[in-house]
Amino acid sequence: MVDNDETPQTTGRFATERNLNVPVASPGEFKPLQLGKKLSIWPPVLLAPMAGVTNPPFRSLCRDSGAPLCVSEMITARAWLRGNKLTHLLASSAEDERPRSFQIYSSDPDEVREFIKRLAPGVDHIDLNFGCPVPKVTRVGGGSAIPLKPRLLARILKEAVGAAGEVPVTIKVRKGISDDLLTWRDSGRVASEEGAAAICLHGRTAAQLYSGEADWDSITQLVEASSIPVLGNGDIWECWDALRMMRETGCMGVVIGRACLGRPWLFRELASIFDGDDPGPPPTIKEIIPIIVDHATRLMDFFGPDLGMRQMRKWGVWYTKGFHGSSAVRESIVRVSNLEDLKTALEKLNPEESFPLLALRANRAKGSRKQRVVLPERYLDNLEDDTPPKGPISVAEMAAWDKALSGG
Ligand SMILES: Cc1cc2nc3c(=O)[nH]c(=O)nc-3n(C[C@H](O)[C@H](O)[C@H](O)COP(=O)(O)O)c2cc1C
Repeated sequence: MVDNDETPQTTGRFATERNLNVPVASPGEFKPLQLGKKLSIWPPVLLAPMAGVTNPPFRSLCRDSGAPLCVSEMITARAWLRGNKLTHLLASSAEDERPRSFQIYSSDPDEVREFIKRLAPGVDHIDLNFGCPVPKVTRVGGGSAIPLKPRLLARILKEAVGAAGEVPVTIKVRKGISDDLLTWRDSGRVASEEGAAAICLHGRTAAQLYSGEADWDSITQLVEASSIPVLGNGDIWECWDALRMMRETGCMGVVIGRACLGRPWLFRELASIFDGDDPGPPPTIKEIIPIIVDHATRLMDFFGPDLGMRQMRKWGVWYTKGFHGSSAVRESIVRVSNLEDLKTALEKLNPEESFPLLALRANRAKGSRKQRVVLPERYLDNLEDDTPPKGPISVAEMAAWDKALSGG
């Protein structure tokens, strides 16, 4: 608890009602997140791996905004090992990116070992994706289907930890497939037995996708059951939610996903409150526009002008969400093909408008639908089986990715 003298002044705080009285961190209340022997993260905050989002340009923007550890989007080990161009591009990072953190997606222990052996020398952190709920992935026994088979999970993790040497390996899971197929306890046990540096739990099942509210109680329970650090994930929309999650669950760090889409300054706010300072108000449109232009420039530098600008369209929509007139602006933004178009589209907004309170908790990606999770046929018959499933993607699919990369 914070005593009265340390209670920060909350008047005028830009937060929704639930967060108006959340105190900033008091000195020594939280520790840096220690991953393995070498990696110490302050504040204990990670940018979540997000496909199509946490590419090198966005990671660098978040890093410049104060994010201390930015995980890459999931990199498919098989595609990388087979030389897929897009996968290699996404697995690259800026020369000065430190720490370098990659998320790997694979359901094959040999592939994981091979990939990590080649990747590990230049990398500071490796995360393994055991939470992906996408039908294309679970149908072939990947992502969130893997923890259903704890011995398979253990085999993959053992290879990863062995190949990574001193580089810390973490795993990222959901609560399970559905409420009657929960896997987080087994995942926690395997993670500590096989030497993972931490486990990240997104408090939803694969069946829930992104619907409903993340179940922070499951994070508390994993913290209580686990001998390794637990990272909490799910529904941190405002910087204050991160403090609430850490206080309520006892987790050692938080993982931020959708809230930073079009709000990279969230990391600056997080850095402030973990250091005991008030974060101040979020930027106005006048201050956000240069951030958007900067982001577009970074995307174009990385992907090339055409693909970079096409990628920028969704970001433009996320950045302007909730501002007056944003629906009209959106119509132009989804068509922009160069920086001038983008600047012209943004001129329609009122430069003096401040950030809308409602936009703080607005979901910018992924809807609210649920799903029935598709598993391989007879997958549940033998959960002791540790045979790697067929795996993630076909050669044809990889070729299609590269076609998209070359503008096809
Ligand atoms: C667009 C998008 C892409 C995602 N891609 C990945 C991914 O590649 N790997 C992964 O482990 N999770 C992925 N996730 C899940 C997030 O890492 C995170 O677990 C989830 O969004 C919940 O956190 P949040 O409530 O802070 O958004 C993705 C989420 C979104 C919105």
